[in-house]
Amino acid sequence: MLRLVEGPAVADVLDPYRGVDRIRPSGGAWVLANMVGGLDGTAAIGGRVGALTGGADAELFRRLRAVADVVLVGAATVRAEGYGPVRLPEDLRAERRAAGRPDVPPVAVVSASLRLDWSSSLFTDAERPTMVVTTPEAAAGPTGPEARRHAEVPEVDPPAGGGGVAVPDLLAALADRGHRVVLCEGGPALLGELVAAGRLDELCLTVAPLVGGDPLPVVRTPPGAPLRGFALRHVALDDGALFLRYEAVPDAR
Ligand SMILES: NC(=O)c1ccc[n+]([C@@H]2O[C@H](COP(=O)([O-])OP(=O)(O)OC[C@H]3O[C@@H](n4cnc5c(N)ncnc54)[C@H](OP(=O)(O)O)[C@@H]3O)[C@@H](O)[C@H]2O)c1
Repeated sequence: MLRLVEGPAVADVLDPYRGVDRIRPSGGAWVLANMVGGLDGTAAIGGRVGALTGGADAELFRRLRAVADVVLVGAATVRAEGYGPVRLPEDLRAERRAAGRPDVPPVAVVSASLRLDWSSSLFTDAERPTMVVTTPEAAAGPTGPEARRHAEVPEVDPPAGGGGVAVPDLLAALADRGHRVVLCEGGPALLGELVAAGRLDELCLTVAPLVGGDPLPVVRTPPGAPLRGFALRHVALDDGALFLRYEAVPDAR
């Protein structure tokens, strides 16, 4: 056991996350997730993340998007949080341009129902067209044409046993579009599917000093999913909140 002692202040919340080598050893898109949980692991308070975040965590949420080629999010989070498109400040846009990347990453929503607010800024005011990844069945259904009017709609088959889109094929569809670094912003159900599929490479988890939120864990793996191991790579502290960065241990991939 190590006792952590106070070290130098971090000038930019993004600094510890910038230099990470996000190449997946076995190929395919690297997936990092950014989540915040209470001391009891709760992922929401009153159905929203708002009361858990703020200060350095809110800043990290905004700035971490700069390391991503695409921001991946589950449709329930889009509905609960009223998601909008990615906006980045000029310093990060310039940093991305200098690295030969587009100014901002697009958002990719995963949805089997296509029950989304097409009049929201996510679809009407995005700098790069929002994607809605769905099943061929949903795309051929009554909402398919409306979805295609407002978004790019990659169709991904479900796994053999049925359900929504298959996670490996979802990530392959993103990688085929040049998205090699995927930032998943939740929610817990989508993140649980990524973990269960062995496709979460990095978890950036803020532990907020609160207890008593909704009975919703930060990661909700499906029943029967195998345990996955993660190695701690970085710890920081701000105003009582812990900022942890973990990477999947290689033999779990
Ligand atoms: N603490 C945090 O950092 C954090 C981060 C994000 C969200 N949250 C909270 O988490 C809650 C929402 O999370 P959640 O776990 O309930 O849901 P979620 O993971 O955000 O979204 C689940 C939905 O995503 C779609 N989906 C997921 N996997 C799919 C697949 N394989 N194929 C097709 N569609 C798929 C489905 O959408 P359809 O229903 O449209 O088919 C499904 O109902 C909210 O309360 C939010 O505030 C917390």
